[in-house]
Amino acid sequence: MTNPIALAQGREYLAIPGPSVMPDAVLQAMHRPSPNIYDGELIEMMPALTRDLKRVARTDHNVAIYIANGHGAWEAALSNVMAPGERVLAPASGIFTRGWAEMAEGIGAKVDLIDFGMSAPWDLNRISETLRADKDHEIKAVLAVHVDTSTSVRNNIPALRTLLDDLNHPALLMADCIASLGCDQFEMDAWGVDVTVTACQKGLMTPAGMGFVFFNDKAQAKRAEMPRVSQYWDWQPRVKPQLFYQYFNGTAPTHHLYGLRTALDLIHAEGIEQVWARHEHLAKAIWTACETWAEGGALELNVADRAHRSRAVTALRLKDGQGTRLRQFTETQLGLTLGIGLGMADWDGCFRLGHMGHVNGQMVMAMLGGVETAMSALNIPRGSGALEAAAVVLAG
Ligand SMILES: Cc1ncc(COP(=O)(O)O)c(C=O)c1O
Repeated sequence: MTNPIALAQGREYLAIPGPSVMPDAVLQAMHRPSPNIYDGELIEMMPALTRDLKRVARTDHNVAIYIANGHGAWEAALSNVMAPGERVLAPASGIFTRGWAEMAEGIGAKVDLIDFGMSAPWDLNRISETLRADKDHEIKAVLAVHVDTSTSVRNNIPALRTLLDDLNHPALLMADCIASLGCDQFEMDAWGVDVTVTACQKGLMTPAGMGFVFFNDKAQAKRAEMPRVSQYWDWQPRVKPQLFYQYFNGTAPTHHLYGLRTALDLIHAEGIEQVWARHEHLAKAIWTACETWAEGGALELNVADRAHRSRAVTALRLKDGQGTRLRQFTETQLGLTLGIGLGMADWDGCFRLGHMGHVNGQMVMAMLGGVETAMSALNIPRGSGALEAAAVVLAG
């Protein structure tokens, strides 16, 4: 279904759940000639850059930087702490836990996967059963995806830490915060997370291409026991480099570093707690609009309970495979690109709203207005007053 008058000209809005909208300041910071990688500014900026990255993850421990996407960061983290034949536990609330678990299998780990389906958070009782049965502590790590971007489920990492502590289970708690860092509250040290994996293209507002692995002393002790770690993934030289190139095991991601520097400046100028509060407030407006539309019977939020929803991505489902048509309408007719229904059996019916990173109130209202316009064009039944309800939330 097309509009008689296409309205896609003008500034486009990419509202997918990563890569996210890049601030103009980040783009401008990257628009420069190649810097010297042997001397000068780039080298001098590294200590403050790693310090400010750690402030976002709320850790005083270490961060290793990789020229990699999130998959690379997954493999980097695993390669430092998982020896072939060791067991990992992977409680899955979507496709990304399964992806990380497959990567663990790829480096020779044995994976215990507990699948909670495509819309539910972890059931800690079921995780507890598996950990209790592991009397010899063969499970060396739990792969905990904080926010699964495919489903928009947000899992309770502190509760998992408490469970491990209550059971005196020594497994490393490894968190994937690729979709949550710089969006949802995350406190690596206070929550007792041993390894945190993230990437730069979502809450960190930088073009895809850098992955980060934060790790504490417990994880480093496991690293020290490893029979071997591939030289490229080894985090040790990266956190204590004698020479600049060791930060990256080769040429630095020069322009990404300038972009990241600016993104971190934006985050810390706003304040990380304010960044979380902004994401939460915007998410509440989005949920309110979606819940209002849902009253019409055609639209459903994938995660029923607000307490388990990400504040950076919202997965939605429409009857009769209308998700793809809705996305096509917003993209071609309005210049608004929404996320696909990743990993869902009825993926054609599903779509996702990305609201991570450089997002403000008027962008959220525009995105919701685009969805409402598409629903109107496609004659999708919906509850009325969704935009008004979202505006009231934002105003409050
Ligand atoms: C939660 C989560 N983990 C891992 C990944 C994989 O990251 P990448 O696509 O950068 O390899 C993604 C990507 O969207 C993600 O959302």
